[in-house]
Amino acid sequence: MDKLIIRGGNRLSGTIPISGAKNSALTLIPCALLTEEPVTLRNLPRLADIDGFQHLMNQFGVTTVIQGTRPEDFGRVMSMEATRITSTVAPYDLVRKMRASILVLGPMLARMGEATVSLPGGCAIGDRPIDLHLQALAAFGAVIELAAGYVKAIAPDGGLPGGEFDFPVVSVGATENAVMAAVLANGTCRLFNAAREPEIVDLCNLLVAMGAEIEGIGTSDLTIHGVKRLHGATYRVMADRIEAGSYACAAAITGGDVFLEGANAGEMQATIHALRAIGVTVEETKKGLRVAAEGPLRPANLTTAPYPGLATDMQAQLMALVCKAQGTSVLKETIFENRYMHVPELRRMGADIETEGRTAIVKGVDRLTGAEVMATDLRASMSLIIAALAAEGETVVRRIYHLDRGYERLEEKLQLVGADIERVGDS
Ligand code: EPZ
Repeated sequence: MDKLIIRGGNRLSGTIPISGAKNSALTLIPCALLTEEPVTLRNLPRLADIDGFQHLMNQFGVTTVIQGTRPEDFGRVMSMEATRITSTVAPYDLVRKMRASILVLGPMLARMGEATVSLPGGCAIGDRPIDLHLQALAAFGAVIELAAGYVKAIAPDGGLPGGEFDFPVVSVGATENAVMAAVLANGTCRLFNAAREPEIVDLCNLLVAMGAEIEGIGTSDLTIHGVKRLHGATYRVMADRIEAGSYACAAAITGGDVFLEGANAGEMQATIHALRAIGVTVEETKKGLRVAAEGPLRPANLTTAPYPGLATDMQAQLMALVCKAQGTSVLKETIFENRYMHVPELRRMGADIETEGRTAIVKGVDRLTGAEVMATDLRASMSLIIAALAAEGETVVRRIYHLDRGYERLEEKLQLVGADIERVGDS
């Protein structure tokens, strides 16, 4: 397994190109199941999870073609054609490697009238149940069966009749599955307290481009009028707001000055607000974000929440940043029950962090020191990289396959702005 070696202390300066959003791509790809016509996605990030999803789509008989991008380019174009679907089953050996596979349940049910998906296990940050996914599909008229570690959803003959579902908890994935199931329903489906993340808007925009009829896009009340069929489309994946926020923290902790090319400030307001509270200069432009930290970093009180609140996917990265603030910060993680796996590793680098349940108290320190650390989950891994960039000495980050799931060519992007970072095979 590869590892990353980072020698801290360099001030990051220059431009980082921001890739397409992983968490949008993972819900846009299964939309190809909803039509026999070609669906082409542009600006797809080059990530392990995207490769995994391509393989899963091939498993269903969907042809996929990765089109002309030079190896040095970031992003890829993928055309998918689900003319004939030869299987409606997402098997355990694929789902266990990529829990986002659950997002085939809704579109496969809509297209084929049934779908069977291995139950995704939990992961490092929590047990990640899918009860809300199933409740929403049942509210639209699906019959749900659970057996032998698989979930099977079945629509009545003629398709889902439609219905209403009021989410007791905001769920991104359950909203995505419900919307994708509803677009070919026989009636109207309504969702209340639906997730409003920009990735949901990206999904709705693709579906509308394919001929879906959706009202309330961007709000928590969605109305989907089922249509008989959808047609193909070509669509550009939105920029990754979490990748952009992650590199903003990296620039800030080094006292750097970096332009995040392609970042969309309109989708990052809570993160920008947090960065400014910490004393980071953020300039919003049409082409991206300029992030600079000249003076000392200030402590901040940060609480994660569903969009438009502060993204839980930014919590670990912002925690690394405030480890160097002059004062005490309080972070509250309200979305996942176990999203502080980065804390013990940051402590090994000299950070002063105490956690009580979902609250973390971070006392800023003058210096962090390099250490051998272990990545545990995607965003925790990034928080270790951010700390390492400002630490004195060398940090070795192991199990970086976690990073490769969510950050396209991370070390190349950081080298572009002067970081001393290299990837080596694990001896
Ligand atoms: C998506 O996960 C993202 N993943 C996550 O990003 C992100 O952290 C999360 O949304 C919240 O923004 C993708 O988009 C692929 P949820 P998802 O359903 O859909 C509970 C990353 O680092 N819940 O919004 O799984 C759940 O346990 C990843 O890029 C239920 O109880 O998140 C959690 O506490 C990590 N029942 C809360 O809701 C359900 O049926 C929010 O989960 C579903 C969720």
